Amino acid sequence: MEIVIVPDAAAQGELAAGAVADLLDRKPDALIGVATGSTPLPVYEALQRRRDRGLSLDRARICQLDEYVGLPVGHPESYREVVRREVLDRLGISDDRFMGPDGSAEDVVAACAAYEATLKNAGGVDFQLLGIGTDGHIGFNEPISSFASRTRVKTLTEQTRVDNARFFDSLDDVPQHVLTQGIGTIMEARHLVLLATGESKAEAVALAVEGPLAAIVPASVLQLHPHATVILDEAAASRLKLADYYRSTYRTKPSWQGI
Ligand code: F6R
Repeated sequence: MEIVIVPDAAAQGELAAGAVADLLDRKPDALIGVATGSTPLPVYEALQRRRDRGLSLDRARICQLDEYVGLPVGHPESYREVVRREVLDRLGISDDRFMGPDGSAEDVVAACAAYEATLKNAGGVDFQLLGIGTDGHIGFNEPISSFASRTRVKTLTEQTRVDNARFFDSLDDVPQHVLTQGIGTIMEARHLVLLATGESKAEAVALAVEGPLAAIVPASVLQLHPHATVILDEAAASRLKLADYYRSTYRTKPSWQGI
């Protein structure tokens, strides 16, 4: 795992957007997995600025990580709508280059299998952006999710529902269930980039990066990925025992090529 500590969320956004831009240079039709929530927004803003300066996203493809179950089609907080607003509209990416699981399907189990097939037929995910829950989740793989899991229905923990209540009128409005790419699915992406900001994520980050590999901390699975980058602001890095070491490895990298 590569740990990069930057001063703030803006720097985090620039670094991750730079990695996406480098990828699109090499592979213009790359499949880029996006996350929702607050943390990745600076990445999408930085990508929009790069697009204004000439970055081409004309062939880029976008896929979704997870989705609430049961919100009506078009609900502003359904992740499909969030991705449409924050990513597709911003970056001029048309619907035919977007894929996501159908959380409003009558048969959600079939919708999960269909999404797995969609990702496979698309050639797999090249770059997956991840946030981390205060309980250590990635996607909506809550604690004790199997490291081998595929896209499926999960029940949110109370902690995650409380964390996400800020997007809804009340806690009662936060759905109980979600569809999420499984940990096994996420691990097949060719490059994982996990972002965390703020003190509220510091403990989960420390457990994921420096703790033992454990299903109780789903993000710890990144320790097994051949190309995983964790970009943290100072507050999210504040409980890492080896923060100075990570800073020194980043600064002295022999041939710095971005992330
Ligand atoms: C969202 C997702 C979640 C979030 C995590 C952090 O698609 O997969 O894992 O990344 O809950 O959310 P924020 O960034 O809002 O703190």
